[in-house]
This record gives sequence, C-alpha cells and structure tokens, in this order.
Amino acid sequence: MSALAAIVLAAGDGTRMKSARPKVLHEIAHRPMLCHVLDAVAPLQPRRTLVVIGKDMAAVAAAAAPAETVVQSPPLGTGHAVKLALEALGDFAGDVLVLVGDVALIRTETIAALVAERRRAPEAAVAVVGMRPADPGPYGRMVTGADGSLEAIIEARDATPAQRAITLCNSGVIALDGRHARALVDAIENNNAKREYYLTDAVAIARKRGLICRAIEAPAEETVGVNSRAELAVAEATLQQRLRARHMAAGVTLIDPTTVYFSADTVIGRDTVIEPSVVFGPGVRVGEGVEIRAMSHIVGAVIGDGAIVGPFARLRPGTELGPRAHVGNFVELKAARLGEGSKANHLTYIGDAVVGREVNIGAGTITCNYDGFLKHETRIEDGAFIGSNAALVAPVTIGANAIVGAGSVITRDVPADALALGRGEQVEKPGAARVLRERGAEAKRAKAKRSKV
Ligand code: UD1
Ligand code: CA
Repeated sequence: MSALAAIVLAAGDGTRMKSARPKVLHEIAHRPMLCHVLDAVAPLQPRRTLVVIGKDMAAVAAAAAPAETVVQSPPLGTGHAVKLALEALGDFAGDVLVLVGDVALIRTETIAALVAERRRAPEAAVAVVGMRPADPGPYGRMVTGADGSLEAIIEARDATPAQRAITLCNSGVIALDGRHARALVDAIENNNAKREYYLTDAVAIARKRGLICRAIEAPAEETVGVNSRAELAVAEATLQQRLRARHMAAGVTLIDPTTVYFSADTVIGRDTVIEPSVVFGPGVRVGEGVEIRAMSHIVGAVIGDGAIVGPFARLRPGTELGPRAHVGNFVELKAARLGEGSKANHLTYIGDAVVGREVNIGAGTITCNYDGFLKHETRIEDGAFIGSNAALVAPVTIGANAIVGAGSVITRDVPADALALGRGEQVEKPGAARVLRERGAEAKRAKAKRSKV
C-alpha cells in the first residue's frame, strides 16, 4: 500500500458519558477506545498517525503514544480538527484517513476497503464509510446520486425532513486524497446549526469542484459511535462476541461462550477448555490444553500447558502457574509462582510466594505475607508437602521434600527433608467426656425443675 496518514479525532469532551475521564479513555474489553482505533489502523502501516486532542488531555496523549498528538483548543468542529492535523502533516500528499476516537470497533478490513475505494479509478477525492443504524437519529445523512456516488453529507440538525428520512448515515470514518484535502478543508465554513466547521461539508465542496466522492457500507455494529454509557455497554457486547469467535476459531473450546468475558489482550493456546462464567482481566496468557473451570476470575496471570484452574479460582496479577499445576476451588494467588505439577486444590491464599515443582499445598493453607507494614516472601521448595490449615508466616522458606504438619503456624525456616510441627500438643483425659456429659444432663434437669416452680 502506498503512503497513508491517519488522523484520529478525539478532542471532544464526551459530555454524554457523564464522566471525569475523557470519553476515548473509557475501556472496551479492558482497553481504551482510542487504543482500539489505533490498533485497527496500525496494520495499514500509516506513515504518521496524529490524534487530535483537547487541552488538558495529557492522559489521552499518553494512551495515544507513540502516535503524535495535535491539540485543538477550542474545538470548533471536525473540519477544524482535521485542518489542524493537516497543518501538522506538512506537505504529505498520500491518503489521509480520518478516524473517530469513539467509533472504536471499526475493523482493519473496513478501513482497508475504504482506502481501496478511494483509490479505485477514477480516483475519488473523498470516500466515506456509511452505515444503516437502527436509529439514524443524530447521524449525518449521506445523499447519494443516481449512479451511487456521494453528493453530500447533511448533519441531522441541518437536514430537511426528506433528507432525514435517508437511512444511509456517516460513520465519521473518511478517506481524503491528500492532494486535495487541504483545499477542501480550507473551504469549509461554519454557517450551520452548531456554528461548527463540519468535515462532512468537504463532500459537497468536492462535488462542486467536479471531484468524485464515493461511499462504502459497513455493518452498523462496528461503525456506530459510543457517546453514552448505554452505547459503551453495546460496544462491549459486540467486542466480546468478536473475541469469543476469535478464540474459538483459534482452537479454544468455550462451553457457554456468552458467559465468558475476555480482555482485548487475552492469549489462549489450542485445546484449552473454558467452562461457563469465567472472566479474564488484562494481561492473561493461557497455554495449551488448560482447563479453566466455571466461575474463575483471572487477571495478570500466566498459565502453563495442561494446568487446571478452578472452579471458583481467583488468579491475581503476578500469578504464574507451571505446566500441569492445579489450582482448585476458593484458591487465591497473587504475585506467586506455582511450579510444574504443584497443587493447591482447596481454600488457600498464596501471595508473594515462589513454590517449586510437585509441591502439595493442603486445604486452608495461608501464606501470611503481610505484617501490617510490609509484604514478605514465602518460598516452598520442590516436593514439599504442606498439611492442611498451615499458616506460613513470611519471610519463611520450606525446604525441598519437607513436610509441614496440618494446623501448623510456621514462623522459622524448615530445612529440606524435615518434618515441622508448629502447633499445641494434644492432651487426652480418659473418661472426661462422659463426666462432662453427666454433669451437663444434671444441670439441665435442675434448670427445668426451677422453671416449673
Ligand atoms: C459526527 C459527524 C456525523 C457522523 C457522526 C458519526 C461531523 C460534522 N458530523 O457527528 O456526520 O454521523 O460523527 O459518529 O463531522 N471532534 C474533535 N474536534 C471538534 C469536534 C469533534 O476532535 O472540534 C471529535 C470528537 O471528539 C469526536 C468526533 O470528532 O470523536 C466526532 O465529533 P462529534 O461532536 O461526536 O460529532 P457528531 O455530532 O457525533
Ligand atoms: Ca459522536
């Protein structure tokens, strides 16, 4: 593909989100909307990518990096935003692609089709991605000629009733021929309902100059804008469907796909089976042949081949499970490595720990990693066996093949091959249970007698 520059419009405040955060930083599948747009255009390898932001939007600039940013203040309309970006592009004369920060689900294929349509001979000065949303409401309407070419885009509030009845709407994603873009954008005026410079006016201006404008049509679900929390939820649902389909196509079994939630960056190997109601937060990498059982919540974790997780497991950031490790129900791990073949099957917390291979951690075991001030590390070496309900008070090391007795509170290091018992010694008093029972029965009888009196 020859030269392409991308401009992403993101200077609006997104008032309808009712948020302290700029709109384009709201996340879909745990990734900011703006990043989804940048991801979609990246495979087309734009020579430059410019994001137009408002003032006081350092956080947006940080999310956009390494894309460059252009500050538009005050925001005088989409035409004005593109004009500033074109100034920053200097004498660039290739394709100028305009994307919208809140049209986050646009696919690479659609953008590529748009660029191809603009370039198709006879070349168009402007090409626009159109869509037919269920409710065309506020969208710009696309006026097409008898030959299917694009004649104008009329903003809803400036449209006549007849124009408003047009169902083909402007997605906001537009490709401009860089050789004409400056002249067209410079000619845009703001004599309209909003007193803004509308980029969409570039179409009618181009037509007046005898240039060609064309449209392609893309599914509404990928081209509608996200302006409110309700639309954000719709976009989330759309992207989750896409992610589920993508993982299944790559060889992952989802028993009940609609109940599994992925992050945009979730990586899962082949032949992994995911049971219902599993949530993947950001930063998760799952190997091949893994079983993730129902109701598990996984964030920032790396899971080795053949491991079993859940049901009801919680893996927090910094968890690393080796191949064939097992983490069972009501087990929580944080910043903890569990070596190959090691098992923590029931009701356990392992935090700030390095656990070797083939270790068995009994039910109810807790690494006491926090003393109220600082976090400390627990090390459990290969082959060790930790009995049920042990409390391992960190910093502490359990040596290789050592055994910790059930119910122990371990406060000192245990050498390799040692048996450690850290619990009160058991006492038996022969016959004492019978004595206690008889005394109890007698007391009950006396009480009953008193209450009758
Ligand atoms: C715009 C289009 C409309 C289209 C719709 C699709 C115009 C005039 N209208 O309308 O035809 O159907 O998008 O979603 O282009 N922005 C800036 N600077 C500005 C103004 C806007 O960067 O001065 C950015 C906003 O942050 C937003 C995008 O441009 O990401 C679109 O602006 P918005 O005000 O949402 O335009 P719409 O009224 O939705
Ligand atoms: Ca919008």
